[in-house]
Amino acid sequence: MNIREVQDEIIRLKKEKDICILAHSYQAREILEVADFTGDSYALSKMAKTAPNKTVIMCGVRFMAETVKMLSPEKKVILSNGIAGCPMAEQFDKEIISQMKEMYPDYTVVAYINTTAELKTVCDVCVTSSSAVQIVNQIENKNILFIPDCNLGAFVAKSCPEKNIKLLQGGCPVHANVTRKHAENAKALHPNAELLVHPECQPQVTELADYVGSTLGIMNYAKKSDKKEFIIGTENSIAEHLQYECPDKKFYLLSKSLICENMKSTTLIDVLNCCKGEGGEEIELSPETIEKAVKCINKMIELGG
Ligand code: 13P
Ligand code: SF4
Repeated sequence: MNIREVQDEIIRLKKEKDICILAHSYQAREILEVADFTGDSYALSKMAKTAPNKTVIMCGVRFMAETVKMLSPEKKVILSNGIAGCPMAEQFDKEIISQMKEMYPDYTVVAYINTTAELKTVCDVCVTSSSAVQIVNQIENKNILFIPDCNLGAFVAKSCPEKNIKLLQGGCPVHANVTRKHAENAKALHPNAELLVHPECQPQVTELADYVGSTLGIMNYAKKSDKKEFIIGTENSIAEHLQYECPDKKFYLLSKSLICENMKSTTLIDVLNCCKGEGGEEIELSPETIEKAVKCINKMIELGG
């Protein structure tokens, strides 16, 4: 079978079996092409709540599939490849954060959505990279414990100076690897290009950027901009997708090491196997975990608009 034939078979099976395919923007182009919805974590969470289908296949990483399951417990939710986790989501466990809550009882615990369902059970509200500033601004409490990403947390703290934000030393190993030197070199190499970066990058990198935003935010900014050249400071797939969608513009990589192996672990054949009912991993969460953890996801949707 060639790629086109595999895609046609996936599309046929989707209709036959009432399947919705959600794909994060970091997925390969051939997967985005067969998805019903694509986007950043926030857009996918909202979509998960409204998709009418009985089965959802999440092409992304585990916490994204768990979010779908929490929002639609009656649906069968399949993670496209069971090895696709997000290392940041595993950095802190429920016990550590529960202890911190005892140490700081007057703090609101704000969790980046890149956390496990288990950890979300002890958090107050979730945020994504696109909604974090808006949501933190709306929290009445001045004291915020922001977990786990200290780079996104620092970006939020800079944008919400009236808040007292406590950070932990967590973060995305892929984005945190980008240095100021990478940004300076890329800017020197492409002096006419705008630098667009994800807030998971270090503050030394985001402070050099022309735009800081989520994966979808970066894509929308580049598409709408009158500028012709852009350095892309997030997973390298985004530069590739933009190059297809905007052939009259030029997209450069901020660093060749901006590759998320977890996001890349899903193949088109994995998606086909999930549609056949033969692959992926069905997400199972206990009713107690869902009941507690979904509260902070619902709060995010309520405050994020
Ligand atoms: P977005 O919310 O921008 O999609 O980010 C998710 C992610 O994991 C980025 O590394
Ligand atoms: Fe997790 Fe980083 Fe991969 Fe995003 S890019 S899924 S934060 S490891």
